[in-house]
Amino acid sequence: MMANTTNVCFEGMQGTSLSPSTEEHFNFLLQAVQAGEAHLQQDNDGKVQIVYENEKRIPLTHVDKSKAHTIQEGKTAEDVRIRVDVCLEMIEAIKETRTPSGVVIDRSKVQTSAQGKYEEGKQFERLQEVLGKGNCAGDIVVVKDNKTGTEHAVKTVMISEFSPDEVRAWVNLGESESFPSLYLFRLIDNKIVLHMEKIEHGVTLDDIINQHMANLWQKAPDLIRPFSLCMFHGLLSAVKEMHDKNWSHCDLHGGNVMMTKDTMTLKMLDFGMAKPLRQGFNFNHDGLKNDILNAIRLFCGLYIGQDFENNFVLEREIKSGTLKKTLLETSGLKESEKDELLQLIAMTYHVTQDPKQAGYGDTTPVLEHIEHTVYPDKMKDVLRKAAAILFPDYYYGARDIDLQARAEVTDGRGDREDEDKVDAFEFDLDAAAAAVPEELLNRLRISL
Ligand SMILES: Nc1ncnc2c1ncn2[C@@H]1O[C@H](COP(=O)(O)OP(=O)(O)OP(=O)(O)O)[C@@H](O)[C@H]1O
Ligand SMILES: [Mg+2]
Repeated sequence: MMANTTNVCFEGMQGTSLSPSTEEHFNFLLQAVQAGEAHLQQDNDGKVQIVYENEKRIPLTHVDKSKAHTIQEGKTAEDVRIRVDVCLEMIEAIKETRTPSGVVIDRSKVQTSAQGKYEEGKQFERLQEVLGKGNCAGDIVVVKDNKTGTEHAVKTVMISEFSPDEVRAWVNLGESESFPSLYLFRLIDNKIVLHMEKIEHGVTLDDIINQHMANLWQKAPDLIRPFSLCMFHGLLSAVKEMHDKNWSHCDLHGGNVMMTKDTMTLKMLDFGMAKPLRQGFNFNHDGLKNDILNAIRLFCGLYIGQDFENNFVLEREIKSGTLKKTLLETSGLKESEKDELLQLIAMTYHVTQDPKQAGYGDTTPVLEHIEHTVYPDKMKDVLRKAAAILFPDYYYGARDIDLQARAEVTDGRGDREDEDKVDAFEFDLDAAAAAVPEELLNRLRISL
């Protein structure tokens, strides 16, 4: 283990007033020293260095990550020598530290053998279901643990594409309603395999925006505003939870947010691009801003069906005032709704603007504003109705079958009559709302 060192210059600092950013850095350093996370020492030239404790040396610096887990040949004698060194360095690291090939994060969901093995056909079975497909990951498949009986979603990432921060962020986020829990991660050959909580009856925000919102526009346009506000609240809350734990998501698009049809809760997933917000003296301002702008873009996608090409375009529209024109051209919204939407976007964007201003990056005022403008007493009702209209198959499926079965028994002929009953039922909002179980709504995370 080696400590990491950084040179620092204190000359001329005494007695001078520091700029806000220098003062921020200085306070950060003081805190790190006070907490024992770093200490100061002089190097051979007498310069002061900050020495961070517990920072592991990154081994195998000259490894070509795309060649992981392959047997290699060198082109020249020197090349062979370097590869031999790299390989021996790795073997020594495994030998010295008894490096495991994975870690169980949640033992109530994953039970390995006494020898620490987790094998298909022994400790778990692979099921047929495929939950999705990733760009970096292959298929997201489902397995079932034979001891605990828990079904897991399993994601596999090539080691060359894998960022260790994905697991660091995930473990750091701990158990939270806003993210699927990580149960186990491990290395198998040249792949990292991640077992996680399966999001039951999940649908991505992309699917909601592209396929389901039309239902809401058609059958209950009055629900669009409160439903979209509620989702924006959920998105900003999850982003805030990550930022509060010092992580930026950095890849917040509609395929990386899922909603469960039964509880209508949002879950943010895929930390493959996650980065720490604050690292040493550096603060990832872009990461913070992009997460918040991405949340605004998803909100606009839900509310007005507007998909800004990227964050840069959204920002340009906000700054130049053309966003107002874009919204004015959006049909279907009342004037008051357009004004409110503009105000909310401006308010949210504002918190990303000035690192020196109090409240930088903190979306609490926006969350509170939404809580006050969407009447709390109506929220449950709104979500109940939205759930039934957005996912008619899910909520009517069982009753359709029931109606059909009954029709077949009673008259044995009339399919038409049966279809009419189902159609009439589908368009009855109150009946639809009543079909959503109370107990599921009570578990709503977004309690407005
Ligand atoms: N825990 C889960 N439960 C249910 N479905 C999931 C789960 N995790 C992922 N999925 C589905 O699989 C898809 C891909 O997963 P994920 O985003 O983690 O992969 P990726 O390769 O990193 O994606 P990207 O395309 O963002 O790079 C998701 O969009 C979602 O539809
Ligand atoms: Mg993804």
